[in-house]
Formats: sequence, C-alpha cells, structure tokens
Amino acid sequence: MTPELGDGTRVVHSSQGAPGDPFGAQPVFASAYHLGGQDYYGRAGNPTWRALENALGSLEGGECVVFPSGMAAISTLLRTVLSTGDTLAVPSDGYFLTRKFVSEMDVNVLEVPTAGPYPSFEGVRLVLLETPSNPGLDVCDIAELAVRAHAAGALLAVDNTTATPLGQRPLELGADIVVASDTKAVAGHSDVLFGHVTLADAELAARVRDARTLNGAIPGPFETWLALRGLGTLDLRLARQAENAAAVHALLKGRVAGLRWPGAPDDPAYLVAAQQMRRFNGVLTFELRDVASVEQFLARSKLVSAATSFGGLHSTADRRAQFGDPVPEGLVRFSAGCEDTRDLVADVSHALGLN
Ligand SMILES: Cc1ncc(COP(=O)(O)O)c(C=O)c1O
Repeated sequence: MTPELGDGTRVVHSSQGAPGDPFGAQPVFASAYHLGGQDYYGRAGNPTWRALENALGSLEGGECVVFPSGMAAISTLLRTVLSTGDTLAVPSDGYFLTRKFVSEMDVNVLEVPTAGPYPSFEGVRLVLLETPSNPGLDVCDIAELAVRAHAAGALLAVDNTTATPLGQRPLELGADIVVASDTKAVAGHSDVLFGHVTLADAELAARVRDARTLNGAIPGPFETWLALRGLGTLDLRLARQAENAAAVHALLKGRVAGLRWPGAPDDPAYLVAAQQMRRFNGVLTFELRDVASVEQFLARSKLVSAATSFGGLHSTADRRAQFGDPVPEGLVRFSAGCEDTRDLVADVSHALGLN
C-alpha cells in the first residue's frame, strides 16, 4: 500500500482481494500445507497472519509479528531481549500485568517518572515505555527517550496500545520496537484477544518470530481475521471515540477531580502528546469521591458498562483500584465508544447527577 494514502484509505484497503476474490482476506484454517509453497506448518507461519502482519507493519513502518494477546506479545519480547541480570527501565505508570511479569523475571527493574525528568540509562538493556500511560494517561516523550536510550546502548520499546498504529508511530520517532494489545481499539469490538510486536530491526524480528514458533502459543486464524476485519474501521471508530472523549471532557471539566485526556489543550500532557501523536483517542481518566460514587454512576448510566478493557465500540468505565493499580479508590478509566455524542453526553451527565 502506498504510504502517501490517508490512514482511512490504508486501513480500509489493508485487506484486499484480487478480482474474483472476496474483498477481505479470509481466515485460512490449515495446520499442514502441501510442501513446496510459502507455508509448511501453521505454527511457523500462515497466510492469515501475513495479511495482518503486512497491514500493521506497513502502518507502523517495521516488521510485525502477531500474538494471541497483548501479554503474549510483551512477554515474548521481554524474554527474547532480556537475559538474567539485565536492567529494564519502565515508567512509573503502566499496565499492571506488565509490571507483575517483569517483577517475576530475573532482571533488575529501574522505575522512572512517566513524564520525566528521566535519569541516565547507563547499564540499561531495554527501556519499555507506555504512552499515553495506563491508567494515568501521562505521556512520555518518545523522541527524547530514544536519544537517551540509544546514547546508553539501550533499546527503546513503546507499548502503543492506547494510541493505536493510527494515533502514534513510535518507530518514526526513534523507538526500536512497538508492542501492543490489539484486544483494544485495533480489533475494536470486544470480541477477541490479540497482540503484536513491530520491530525496526529485521534480525531482532526474526528472533521474536522464532520465539513464537518455539513457544507454540500462537494466534488462531479466526481471531487473526477478526482483528484484521476490525482494523479496517479503526480510522472511523477512532474519530467518533475522540469526538466523544472531547465532549465528555468538556462536560466533566471543573466538575470532577483528576480529569485527564491528553487531547485537551489544558491537559499537562497535551504539548508532548500533540507533538508526537497523529491523533487522539477515546480514553480519559477522572476521579469520583469513592467506590460507592463509581457504583452509583454505573448503576444510573444506561450507555456506560463496567468493563476492564478500553477502545471498543461501546463506552465502558473501569475502577482501576479494584485491579490493584496504585490509584485512588474512585479513579475511573473511561473509554468513550462510538455512540452518538449527544446521547453519550446526556447519559454521563444524568448518571453523574450533573443536570
Ligand atoms: C497498555 C496495555 N498493554 C498490554 C495489555 C495486555 O493486553 P492483553 O489483555 O491483550 O493481553 C493491556 C491490557 O489491558 C494494556 O492495557
């Protein structure tokens, strides 16, 4: 696909058949292949993975390797890059299972403030950012951190889940690796778990690919096809989600504590976010007084469901402290879905007793 085309065109045409073929690539349900062609055994590679890997790799500007979940992508990358005794730097805010996974590895973990100031990365093997971070929605300066990481001989990986491949291109900003949970906005319909790693370096990509083959935990063709089908509407969904997030942000401004959305010009992360992100998305955070206030909000809302994911078609809210995130009890990560903006704003306003 020609890179000059717009993102909407690129994702719509990311799965395209030839005359006489179906429009989208279809899932190929095969474990063994007649030898002599490109494929020989489904665990090593297959046409359904290739269709999605080509689409995501082309958007992100690297070589993509797909995985059955975001955690499978992250854990395989970490096991491939890190050896016993290595040092990994992670920002202070980030997905809790990534933090749990690294705490159980035989590596040293250096925690750095998400929005800086950043220390020297001397002696660090890998810096793993998450930006916008989860659930705090702070933003790390990818270009600055790439320079610092490389000066110290470290690799820089970015968890791009919240931003999506349309919202941010970390490899263009100097990062070496992108990891993501496509369970969220990329697949987008809350019906599949999925993940991927995209790498700038072909040799490291081959090692990650080999690790997947040896490990044997691979994505199924149907799940891969669902993610590819979801990718086709990512541009449209992100547009509505960001519009809804902006409207909910405007509704809540000055009326709830701890309101964060990197797309708002008065957000502390806005300047860096606007510089490095290509567009904003539907995820915002705010604090209600306590657990009961969050429960009341969810009980009164007809459009917002309690769910621990984000980026899907439906608006959802997640009280992160229930999963052990070190945040106030009433902190809500809110994922604006694709409902009509007017309906969502009216619903949230009613549910919070703002009207
Ligand atoms: C930022 C981030 N990274 C990784 C993951 C893990 O992805 P998955 O649930 O697809 O394994 C999540 C899941 O919530 C996430 O929010």
